[in-house]
Amino acid sequence: SLPARVRIVEVGPRDGLQNEPRTVPVQIRAELVRRLADAGLAAVEAGSFVSPRWVPQMADTEAVLAALPPRPGVRYPVLVPNEKGLERALAAGAREIAVFAAASETFSRRNINCTVDESLARFAPVVARARAAGLAVRGYVSCVLGCPYEGAVAPEAVVRVAAALHAMGCYEISLGDTIGVGTPGRARALVKAVAREVPVGQLAVHFHDTYGQALANIYAVLELGVSVVDSAVGGLGGCPYAPGAAGNVATEDVLYLLHGLGIETGVDLDAVVDTAWWIAAALERAPASRVAHALRRR
Ligand code: HMG
Ligand code: MG
Repeated sequence: SLPARVRIVEVGPRDGLQNEPRTVPVQIRAELVRRLADAGLAAVEAGSFVSPRWVPQMADTEAVLAALPPRPGVRYPVLVPNEKGLERALAAGAREIAVFAAASETFSRRNINCTVDESLARFAPVVARARAAGLAVRGYVSCVLGCPYEGAVAPEAVVRVAAALHAMGCYEISLGDTIGVGTPGRARALVKAVAREVPVGQLAVHFHDTYGQALANIYAVLELGVSVVDSAVGGLGGCPYAPGAAGNVATEDVLYLLHGLGIETGVDLDAVVDTAWWIAAALERAPASRVAHALRRR
């Protein structure tokens, strides 16, 4: 059966803008986060404290957070790859971070320059310190349904990394189909496998929409009890270290699906569509989603 309510984690200002060829000015980044929070999104990923040499688009995430006054009921998580990232997050007043591992060795090396086991060893003290400081910590696993370098990824590899992040103290594990190759049968099998180690209520799904399968995959895993979905306004997104990957599933497409099913989200679809057009104008192109075009309001 389907959940009565789904929590959406908006990742556009991070996953979306990290992949833009041009660096988006801080004021636009912060304005995007503000508009999404205004639309009712209670978790908006605001940026990353990663190396600015690796991902220049996410430099100055300090300034983005500084431009966002605290707002009751809204969280602004940020990605943190190591101790240095945690220090930056703490100094910037972040209340929630996300660490990010991968189920594929080659992707791990390309994305964060270490093996999967090295990354887990690196995250353990970061998660412990963050939690001791009162921060919430989310964990990502990338390449859960395929790797841009290695191809197929075994569910066991995903289960191992997800269980390790959960055991470290991550309150939620987001399963990332980084290159969007999954289909509903495989997505279901994966969630069933991971749910043997991590309670399904602590799982989120993060589908990129390269092959147009994201909504079908989401529907398939909602039926298994997943009730947290990552998405990006306008279908922004991609990973600089995942060649060929398309954007995240669009928030407005997910909202249209969920509201059509009678599932509550607390998010205003029209406000998200307006925001999709607003950021698209700033990036000088049209939104990637079907719903943004169908509901375009002038
Ligand atoms: P490294 O080169 O091995 O790092 O990179 P290092 O520790 O040897 O440090 C090298 C230099 O970087 C040093 O500077 C450090 O100070 C600096 P130098 O002394 O040479 O001047 N440095 C930092 N600066 C600022 N903030 C930091 C930081 N750390 C080191 N936190 C590292 C390793 C992890 C840093 C690098 O590989 C990195 O930043 N990677 C991030 C890649 C990334 O952001 N990818 C996109 C996010 S993941 C994703 O999109 C997938 C997801 O959406 C889910 C899905 O779709 O699957 C989450
Ligand atoms: Mg992603």
